[in-house]
Amino acid sequence: MLLLDFVRYQQNLKGTKIGCREGDCGACTVLIGELDNGQVKYRSATSCLTPLGNVNNKHIVTVEGVNMDDLNPIQQAMCETNGTQCGFCTPGFIVSMAGFCLSDKEPTYKNAIASVDGNICRCTGYKSIERALEKITALLEDKPSDAAAFVTEKGILPAYFTDIPEKLKLLSEQPNGADLAKPNKLFIGGGTDLYVQQHEAMVYADIDFVGAKPELKGITQQGDICTIGGATTVSEFAASPIIRKYFSNIDQFTKLVSSTPIRNIATFAGNFVNASPIGDFSIFFLALNAILELTDGITKRNIPLRQFYKGYKQLDKKPEEYISKFWFTLPDEKTLFNFEKVSKRTHLDIASVNTAISLVMAGSIITDASVSAGGVGPTPAYLSMASEFLKGRVISEKLIIKATQIAQTEVSPISDARGTGQYKRLLLSQLIKGHFIKLFPDLEVKQLISVV
Ligand SMILES: Cc1cc2nc3c(=O)[nH]c(=O)nc-3n(C[C@H](O)[C@H](O)[C@H](O)COP(=O)(O)OP(=O)(O)OC[C@H]3O[C@@H](n4cnc5c(N)ncnc54)[C@H](O)[C@@H]3O)c2cc1C
Ligand code: FES
Ligand code: FES
Repeated sequence: MLLLDFVRYQQNLKGTKIGCREGDCGACTVLIGELDNGQVKYRSATSCLTPLGNVNNKHIVTVEGVNMDDLNPIQQAMCETNGTQCGFCTPGFIVSMAGFCLSDKEPTYKNAIASVDGNICRCTGYKSIERALEKITALLEDKPSDAAAFVTEKGILPAYFTDIPEKLKLLSEQPNGADLAKPNKLFIGGGTDLYVQQHEAMVYADIDFVGAKPELKGITQQGDICTIGGATTVSEFAASPIIRKYFSNIDQFTKLVSSTPIRNIATFAGNFVNASPIGDFSIFFLALNAILELTDGITKRNIPLRQFYKGYKQLDKKPEEYISKFWFTLPDEKTLFNFEKVSKRTHLDIASVNTAISLVMAGSIITDASVSAGGVGPTPAYLSMASEFLKGRVISEKLIIKATQIAQTEVSPISDARGTGQYKRLLLSQLIKGHFIKLFPDLEVKQLISVV
């Protein structure tokens, strides 16, 4: 059962709205709180794509859960700025804003705006909502790390939030009722692909909630190897101190992927196994030569992500195997990495074409190169010929143009809703050039810009 249906039809909490049921509009946003080092960490999520089985022992906050005797200051700010008109989107916005108040994010206006990036409003034109967010940001000045204590003391959210850590601790001591280990079930990570594509069928499916298994979570470093649990979410990845240390542009990359409530639940294993030719993290990790660990719960085997895709939505994976973790070599000071994506909208959209590159440099010589690209063939692609061509050569404009020409021989884009095949070829060349322009800002780029 979906969390949205549970909330509305079993709990009769009708403040959570149904808009698209596809993760796009944010009308169904709730907060999911879970224990993290004794405190409860709250993240916004689209309840229309969240299976109830993924939120066992977690605290779910709907819009009713942020109500106080009078309007709370978040609701008051929306009223004062005329941030609500027809009101259909308003509960989702209020919940996302409450999530921002409870989060460990720096209380800046920019972060406040980012917290509602998954909420769509068709009435207000957003300016009034932006003004509400200015007021809310001002309320959070001097917010310490224990956000729950702060927002309850200040009367921004109800006092009961401070009791939740103790309640969740008690719950975590109960035996976990979920049956997680039966073979031949449909694996579900965050559900952000499955519930969009097979919404009806999921009601009757026999599900293994791999996305809720704590042993499949986490990011660790051993030497220069970084290991990531298959059920780790995009938000957990972007917040990891390890990832932030080695990928200084990680916020720029991740904000191009879906929206905050989707990133909060979408997992890496789900992105790899969905096998969409434009899956952003498949492209990201193809360039980093990630190795996957597949297991059926008893035996394990490793396979490079580069060998995982066998054809359109065909994988080197048995039905009973799931991705438990994957690992890759962290970029050192000689390694340059970049990710580029073009979509019809900059945010909350899937790619027309995306690409990543990893280059190991010795002065101006490229000693190792990996280029990947999505949207230009039936699977996420590792461009082996272009990568090989770049190895051992001195960086120059001519070299880059030649590499884009070689890349063109490795791809077979089709025309679809995201652009014609010809347009996608053009995008691929421009994005590969874009990698070099970004990574080598001193490079003479006159020709790169003009030659297609
Ligand atoms: C509004 C919206 C915007 C989106 N935007 C983007 C975007 O910008 N870029 C992008 O790349 N994607 C995007 N997506 C797609 C989706 O969010 C990602 O592909 C996500 O990473 C899927 O992960 P999940 O855990 O939700 O997958 P799920 O839906 O849970 O599963 C997807 C597939 O993976 C399998 N699976 C899940 N976990 C495992 C496991 N551990 N082992 C084996 N198989 C497993 C499932 O059986 C299923 O076949 C978007 C989706 C939505 C709804
Ligand atoms: S109903 Fe639109 S995001 Fe859930
Ligand atoms: S107020 Fe009508 S959709 Fe936002």
